[in-house]
Amino acid sequence: MKQDINNTTDIKKVVDQFYAKVKSDETIRHFFNNMREEHWQKHLLVMYAFWENVLFHTGEYNGNPLETHRRIHQQNPVGFVHFHRWLSLFTATVDESFAGKNADKMKEHARGIAAVMQQKI
Ligand code: HEM
Repeated sequence: MKQDINNTTDIKKVVDQFYAKVKSDETIRHFFNNMREEHWQKHLLVMYAFWENVLFHTGEYNGNPLETHRRIHQQNPVGFVHFHRWLSLFTATVDESFAGKNADKMKEHARGIAAVMQQKI
């Protein structure tokens, strides 16, 4: 039986496996292609902190995802097809390894943010 997402190690696993899929995905990999290794490493730390805050209320994330994605969208339009692909890769990644309350929360949160971003970017 699959375990729930219970700690930072589990979150890292989700994020790392998600981006492994993103990097080889023809629909959305181009958004991430121009990130150098150093930028990637920083981005990963931001994403771990973001999800830790969502699931465990650490208070350690203080970014502004809407602003970040507006900037991305201005440089490189992000449309329905891209959000749809992002979400299906994310959901598949969580489901591959985890099941439970936190796993559901993570997927729901991603869906909610994607919906808001699509309206507001
Ligand atoms: C097609 C859809 C999406 C694309 C192409 C995309 C792309 C990106 C990229 C390239 C960055 C790095 C920005 C940088 O460091 O310069 C980023 C950051 C981020 N993304 Fe997305 N993203 C998408 C959807 C989502 C969704 C649905 C979520 C919901 C959880 C999300 C959450 C975040 C967060 C939290 C950051 C860090 C923001 C910050 O504090 O700077 N993204 N995204």
